[in-house]
Amino acid sequence: MNRTPSEDVILAVSGMTKSFGALRAVDDVSFAVRAGEILGVAGPNGSGKSTLFNAITRIPFGPDAGTVLLAGEQVQDLPPHALAARGLARTFQRETVFQTLSAVDNVIVAVEQTNRGKSMRGNVLLAEQALDIVGFPATLHNWKASALPVFLRKLVMIAGAMALDPKVLLLDEPASSLTPDEIDRLRALILHLREMGLAIVLIEHVLELLTHVSDRLMVLDQGRVIALGDPVEVVRNPQVIEAYLGVAA
Ligand SMILES: Nc1ncnc2c1ncn2[C@@H]1O[C@H](COP(=O)(O)OP(=O)(O)OP(=O)(O)O)[C@@H](O)[C@H]1O
Ligand SMILES: [Mg+2]
Repeated sequence: MNRTPSEDVILAVSGMTKSFGALRAVDDVSFAVRAGEILGVAGPNGSGKSTLFNAITRIPFGPDAGTVLLAGEQVQDLPPHALAARGLARTFQRETVFQTLSAVDNVIVAVEQTNRGKSMRGNVLLAEQALDIVGFPATLHNWKASALPVFLRKLVMIAGAMALDPKVLLLDEPASSLTPDEIDRLRALILHLREMGLAIVLIEHVLELLTHVSDRLMVLDQGRVIALGDPVEVVRNPQVIEAYLGVAA
């Protein structure tokens, strides 16, 4: 395809840095992602992957330094709800579904954070649409989250993000605690969301999933980007192998 690197860039993060005391959890991280592209993010435990998402979305804290361009506009000083309203949605590594609410009520809570629905009926419709998009079974909309298996609770969480009608979706380890079959279903869903034109940044430890769906792969180690590019080449990179195994390749 004939396009310049900057064409279609929907999210551009530059110089993102976040310290906790003396620890530089995220250290001068820069990347860009295009509409319809999946950028995978890998790295050992504690390498700063979740902190990077936290700093970008300002949930629960912003960065010490760095800029975020969303659809060409500087947004690094906007509060989380304003970022979400402009099309930046995320899921969390830990489970954030309200266990005592039904699946659809969980997504309605997400819709209510926006001004999309306008009315109670409108909110319900948008929540139902978001559950349909992620393939959540229509017969289970009114089941309490606590009665659902973990895979379906994850779909509720992703539906909550999709209910914001995002341009960019940040997913933090969606495959954790899933069976191989469920990971296959998650893979199909992620590819479906890309087909819809979303830009997706996917943090994952399941490398097989990551290398399969990612258009490009970024690896963090001790807060820094140590590799960014073609997934197959990146996983063969000696510095990446060393970061994972802790020994020289
Ligand atoms: N709120 C916090 N206060 C202090 N230190 C923190 C905080 N959040 C993260 N850290 C530290 O920052 C570093 C990066 O953590 P982070 O959770 O971003 O890693 P990660 O790559 O997401 O790891 P994992 O793969 O285990 O999820 C770790 O050393 C962690 O202990
Ligand atoms: Mg993490």
